[in-house]
Amino acid sequence: MSFGAAPIGNIFRPISEDESRAMMATAWDAGIRSFDTAPMYGHGLSEARVGESLRWKERDDFLLITKVGRRLRPKKRSEIDFTPWVDGLPFEMIFDYSYDGVMRAFEDSNQRLGLERIDVVFIHDIDVFTHGEEQQKIHFKAAMDGAYRALEDLRSNGHVTAIGVGVNEAAVCHAALQHGDFDGFLLAGRYTLLEQDALDNFLPLCEERNAFVLVGGGFNSGILATGAKPGAKYNYAPAPQDIMDKVSQIEQVCTEFAVSLPAAALQFVVAHPCVPSFVAGVRTTEQLQQNIAWMNAPIPAEFWQALKQRDLLREDAPTPA
Ligand SMILES: NC(=O)c1ccc[n+]([C@@H]2O[C@H](COP(=O)([O-])OP(=O)(O)OC[C@H]3O[C@@H](n4cnc5c(N)ncnc54)[C@H](OP(=O)(O)O)[C@@H]3O)[C@@H](O)[C@H]2O)c1
Repeated sequence: MSFGAAPIGNIFRPISEDESRAMMATAWDAGIRSFDTAPMYGHGLSEARVGESLRWKERDDFLLITKVGRRLRPKKRSEIDFTPWVDGLPFEMIFDYSYDGVMRAFEDSNQRLGLERIDVVFIHDIDVFTHGEEQQKIHFKAAMDGAYRALEDLRSNGHVTAIGVGVNEAAVCHAALQHGDFDGFLLAGRYTLLEQDALDNFLPLCEERNAFVLVGGGFNSGILATGAKPGAKYNYAPAPQDIMDKVSQIEQVCTEFAVSLPAAALQFVVAHPCVPSFVAGVRTTEQLQQNIAWMNAPIPAEFWQALKQRDLLREDAPTPA
């Protein structure tokens, strides 16, 4: 499991410095050694907090992932729209997928983190989810022409170990992998117990190209952790009825086999050979500890077979041994 550091960028509600430090310490003490952050998360707050908590750790003991594609520029707090972040750092965000913009953003991330190095850099949010149909085409082209070349240079000069793309859509990852020599991806919400369209094209190409896929949003932003209860979240908004219905059906199978839904959601994702880690976004130390326990909970093989027999899971989806 990796630590997803969007929540400590204060997404939707603030997390205090003490809570943030406690979560990072709990993650470290539990053996988590991979941390995913981004300049976007709290307009720099997440990178600052992650860097502070890891500052005095032995650098080779952990993996640090951040992203490029947004530059941060100082501005009066009162003039910044922080939505969906709360009390971020006083920087406005500007999309910039150009070569120079990415090089500058990379330098800025290094300063905010205050660590010896960054291991993995993803081009962030070049998807329709973020930009809409028309703008996405423009940003994707700019990223392949500029950001990709910048990251290639950083990799070939030894400044980073791996480069890739971090988005909410498998099709964009697939297009990027067809375009360039990417080492890996962060795919959010699109390979989960609830949806496996990434098995159509993207994951087979990753297998062929030996690319890794970190899965973020593995609870589809909440509903696979909470179950289909009123107010459950899917894609960061209240879940629509068809999603509630499908999760309820999966929950029925969980009940029959005495399996917890979030345990199944966590363990399913990392059963794919290209997926080394579930990037968990947690809001409290309790959620983090619970997720670690769920990751290790026993699940009978018959449970996965039952999901497939009832058309609740794709037949070709790898499941835990
Ligand atoms: N484009 C990208 O690169 C991209 C996009 C998305 C995510 N990510 C990465 O992936 C990470 C995780 O993504 P995510 O936070 O969007 O999705 P997620 O893991 O699907 O959902 C996280 C939410 O699930 C709920 N949850 C987690 N553990 C729980 C528990 N034990 N009990 C009850 N509820 C629990 C919490 O909801 P409540 O807050 O409601 O309690 C939490 O905020 C991010 O932090 C980020 O590092 C990257």
